[in-house]
Amino acid sequence: MNTKKPFLVTCAFPYSNGDIHIGHLLEHIQADIWVRYHRMQGRSVFFICADDTHGTPIMIKANNMKKTPEELISITLKKHILDFSRFKISYDNYYHTNSKENLYFSNKIYLLLKKNGYINKKKIFQLYDNSKKIFLPDRFVKGQCPNCFAKDQYGDNCEKCSFIYDAIDLIKPKSLLSKSSPVLKESLHIFFNLPRFQKFLWIWIHSGVLSNSVKNKLIEWFKHGLKEWDISRDFPYFGFKIPNYLNKYFYVWLDASIGYISTFKNLCNHNKNINFNDFWKSSKNTNLYHFIGKDIIYFHSLFWPSILEGINFRKPTKIFVHGYVTINNKKMSKSKNFFITAEKWLKNYDSDSLRYYFSSKLNNSFEDIDFNLREFVNKINSDIVNKLVNLASRCSSFINKNFDNYLSKELLDFEIYKSFLKESLYISKLFESLNFKLLIKRIMLFAEKANLYFNSKTPWLLCKNEFRIIHSVSSMGINLFRILMTWMKPIIPDLSLKVEEFLNIKLKWEDIKNPLFNHKISNFKNLYNRIKYKKIF
Ligand code: MSP
Ligand code: ZN
Repeated sequence: MNTKKPFLVTCAFPYSNGDIHIGHLLEHIQADIWVRYHRMQGRSVFFICADDTHGTPIMIKANNMKKTPEELISITLKKHILDFSRFKISYDNYYHTNSKENLYFSNKIYLLLKKNGYINKKKIFQLYDNSKKIFLPDRFVKGQCPNCFAKDQYGDNCEKCSFIYDAIDLIKPKSLLSKSSPVLKESLHIFFNLPRFQKFLWIWIHSGVLSNSVKNKLIEWFKHGLKEWDISRDFPYFGFKIPNYLNKYFYVWLDASIGYISTFKNLCNHNKNINFNDFWKSSKNTNLYHFIGKDIIYFHSLFWPSILEGINFRKPTKIFVHGYVTINNKKMSKSKNFFITAEKWLKNYDSDSLRYYFSSKLNNSFEDIDFNLREFVNKINSDIVNKLVNLASRCSSFINKNFDNYLSKELLDFEIYKSFLKESLYISKLFESLNFKLLIKRIMLFAEKANLYFNSKTPWLLCKNEFRIIHSVSSMGINLFRILMTWMKPIIPDLSLKVEEFLNIKLKWEDIKNPLFNHKISNFKNLYNRIKYKKIF
């Protein structure tokens, strides 16, 4: 990884028709920790996201609420921004896709793709709800799977046998909007010619941008052959109108991806020091990283790079894919209220605790991540309270009481300090490779080491005239605590702020090579409270 170049980092855009929940938060927390780590290393990082505002579900939800889609997306945007800020996700810009910048780039990119010969049109049949006068999106129709005949399957793929099909192939389809049987209706649609990018994509997916498991998934899709991508939708739809057509709109996924470009453009408008072209026209001097969930690999690693290739823009440096959050090994479900929103979480627990818990379970793979409340409570109490905060509390009581809050001028047993510094290089590698699970294991191992050191020296048993040892041992404990908290800073920013106040320093990566000697700390104040198990879902 070339870390000298500035980074542009993105998370996938949450839809405007729902609350932020812990599934979304997994992604934003993962990316934020990575971003905060790189910023601590002095790298220039721009971190952006936006609400994905278009599409039928948003239009229908607004309608049901007796609001315009614009009203709904503006209410939701405020709420999403608040949720993410409460979880300390450090965005440089959080925007939305119904913006003037996005309209401009969607039109421009579409016209360029057309000019370059990548756009076709043809008439196709689709399911149409005659009573509601609307073409039915895949998620608004259910029927029997044409492959295994399972009942109650959506219009895109079968949850029982994973077969992918067209909605028109469903057996006995029913509209979820009116419960009526839809009819087949013909309409002209506009297609992006994905098969033309087959060769380019084959080389691209083998160029190290994806993990092996993601790459293998794509190779499977290649075997089935790439199909042209339908990028248009008919009226009624909430989205951008396609130039030179009456009543045709860009499919939400086209302008959502382009939202990465327009959200960044909006940031450039506010910060004149950033050069837009450096990030999108050529990849020579910058890195582009996308964080996404496993359900949207297809869009990000087939359509998206092809669009960029089709207009001669740079391609992503890497795409990081995570798995799904489950609760007690079950899929989250909004309808069954088996679901934890950001807001509900914060009514019960703090944001650092979720950030820590997710980190302890995340590695660079797209396996699902199970949320277990008992495990969560145990982890927070045994790691953050018992291993970290207790170390500071026990050591500082000596410093506060006997040494007028000053750390010692010397540290005996310097070897242990050096072993922490050596570990720091490995910790950096684990941050960079997104191996947070192992990272937390190592940090906790070293926290145990620090506690063991302090315990083995039993400063509380020494007599007053051994003050030199007492002072050095408790100061070493504080110095080791400082290293541990510097490593933890990207993960638990709230606690880190309190620790900075307590230690009277900023926690900086490059500073830990110099221990704190003869340095005045504050009186110890409670840094973090034990948490209790509560039934929150
Ligand atoms: N709007 C699209 C993304 C467009 S990006 C140009 C979308 N939105 S989403 O709200 O459904 O999902 C946003 C992100 O959250 C995706 O990366 C998705 O994988 C992730 N998650 C949504 N539910 C999730 C879990 N239960 N667990 C983990 N991640 C989940 O897709
Ligand atoms: Zn099936």
